[in-house]
This record gives sequence, structure tokens and C-alpha cells, in this order.
Amino acid sequence: MSERRTRRSRRSPARRAALITVALTLMGGLSAIAAPTVSQAAPLPAEVSSGQALFTTNCSSCHGMNGQGVTIDGTQIGPNIQNVGAAAVSFQMSSGRMPMAKQAQQSSRNQNTFSAEQIQAVAAYVAAMGTGPAIPNASQYDPSGLTPEQVAKGGELFRTNCSACHNYAGKGGALSNGNYAPPLTGTGVTNQEIWEALRTGPQNMPVFSPSQLSDDDVKSIIGYLSQLNESPEAGYTLGGIGPVTEGFAAWFFGIGGLVGFALWIASKGARAR
Ligand code: HEC
Ligand code: HEC
Repeated sequence: MSERRTRRSRRSPARRAALITVALTLMGGLSAIAAPTVSQAAPLPAEVSSGQALFTTNCSSCHGMNGQGVTIDGTQIGPNIQNVGAAAVSFQMSSGRMPMAKQAQQSSRNQNTFSAEQIQAVAAYVAAMGTGPAIPNASQYDPSGLTPEQVAKGGELFRTNCSACHNYAGKGGALSNGNYAPPLTGTGVTNQEIWEALRTGPQNMPVFSPSQLSDDDVKSIIGYLSQLNESPEAGYTLGGIGPVTEGFAAWFFGIGGLVGFALWIASKGARAR
């Protein structure tokens, strides 16, 4: 027994050294794979490294040093963001949602305290971690020059794809589990943020890929929303019966129907007794 123990302990330093060597080699290899690689098409390494510094200070506590996400005791503190793309970072930071101030079910729109350059740097750093949509250029989201027909089409697309959550007039609405779709008018949402939200699907919002909504479609929707922002009346269509009226009618008749149904059940219940 004692002989065995000495033999094992005599052998173990060598074994331990070998194990440590193997572990270090593996770790080196892994970090080489995990470390963001800067390809030729990527922005200047200087931007990526200043982005890395900002990310380390402001984001890594919840998203991890390599954007892999952080989970403590089975609770997710922040999701993996390696493949969200620069557009998602730009959206989250410019709308003041990130860095999240405190743990919450849904981070709400807030004051952004970062400069455009800082946001771009962090976005470049996150983009280098994986794939995902790039930050759009103005020609992709600037709606000036759209024809009235194109803006009207944007209204149609909005009612088909967005109004279920954001309401016909873009006033926002409650979703299940205490979540909400924010209002899209009167809150300072920028055209760029609309493009980025569509392509990256923050939180409970679905991602609208270019195969679902082309860049032209997205621009039409942006044109429609900026028209709503400038003059709420612009949303009125269908010969004066605008979305607001429609919504009110749906609400009125919907509630009316429910009340009628409740009365009917009550009367049946009374009869059964
Ligand atoms: C206190 C924790 C916390 C901090 C700090 C934080 N985040 Fe987040 N982040 C979250 C959580 C939680 C979510 C998911 C919930 C949500 O989107 O509302 C999230 C979501 C995101 C998303 C959206 C991911 C997707 O799937 O679209 C991005 C991008 C993001 N964070 C980037 C950042 C960046 C960049 C920073 C630093 C500037 C940062 N976060 C700082 C907790 C944090
Ligand atoms: C299934 C519900 C749902 C649908 C459909 C949906 N959204 Fe959203 N949208 C959300 C939620 C939830 C958020 C808030 C995300 C967050 O808090 O991180 C949001 C956020 C946004 C924002 C950011 C607003 C802000 O305050 O910064 C924009 C812009 C937006 N959506 C536009 C659209 C457009 C345009 C469409 C249709 C093409 C659409 N959404 C369809 C649920 C939805």
C-alpha cells in the first residue's frame, strides 16, 4: 500500500508536467481559434483594438471576453453575441439599450452615451468574432426620393409585418410575459435603427431577412414611418378610414362581442341553475 503510494507520487511530477504541457498547448490552440481574426476586408486593426478595450470595460461582464455569453448558476447574465453582427451592436448601443444598466427582462430605449466612432469600434470588434449583418450605409435607409406609391407600399408592408406587435399607428403594444413592442413614432427612433432592428431582430422581434423584405421594401417601410412621424394623418388610408379608426372599430366591436358573449354565458348559467 505505502509502496504503491510512493511510486505514484514519485511518478506524478513528471506526469503533471506532461499534463500541464498538453493543457497549455490545447489552450493556446483554442484561444488562437477563438480569438477574433482580422481579415483583409475587416476595418483597421486600430479600430478593432480600441473596440476591444471599450468592450472589455462595458460589455464583457455580461457577454464574456470573447462575446461567448455569461451564465452564472444556470442564469444567463448575457447571451452569446458572436454572430449578431455589427448592425446589432450599432442598434443596441445607439438606442441606449446596451450596455444594459441592470439585469432586467427587457432593456428599454435609453440615452446613448457613446460617440458614433466608439459604437463603430465596438461593432467592428464584435463583427470580427463571427458573422452577421454589417452597419448599413445611408443609401440603404435614407427614404428621401421615394415616390408616394413606394411610401404607400411601405404602409401596406407595415400593416402586414409589423402592426401585430407595434400597432397600426406605430404606437407600440404589450406582448406576452410582460414584454412590450415599443412605439415607433415620437421616441426619436432613427431610420438607421429601423433598418438595423429589422435585420437583427432584437429581443422578441423576428429577424426580417432580405428574402422576406428586400432592401427596397425596408426603405419603403422607413419612408412610411417617417411620414407617420411627420404627420400622423399620413397614416390614414382606405378613403379616410385610417388605421386609428380601424383599430378603434376593432376594439369597439371586439369588446362589444366579448360583453355580449359574457352576458350570453351568464344567462345560460342562470338557466342551468
Ligand atoms: C448587465 C448586463 C449587460 C451588459 C453590461 C451588456 N449587455 Fe448586451 N445584453 C444583455 C442581455 C441580458 C441581453 C438580452 C436581452 C435583451 O436584448 O434585452 C443583451 C443583448 C445584447 C445584444 C443583442 C443580441 C441579439 O441577439 O440581437 C447585443 C448586440 C448586445 N447585448 C451588445 C452589448 C454591448 C456591445 C455591450 C457593451 C457596450 C453590452 N451588450 C453590455 C446584457 C448586458
Ligand atoms: C413579434 C412582435 C414584433 C414584430 C412582428 C415586429 N416587432 Fe419591432 N420590436 C418588437 C420588440 C419586442 C421590440 C423591442 C426590442 C427590445 O426591447 O430589445 C421591437 C423593437 C423595434 C424597433 C426599435 C424601437 C426602439 O425604440 O428603439 C424598431 C425600429 C422596430 N421594432 C421596427 C419594426 C418593424 C418595422 C417591424 C415590421 C417589419 C417590426 N418591428 C415587427 C417586436 C416586434
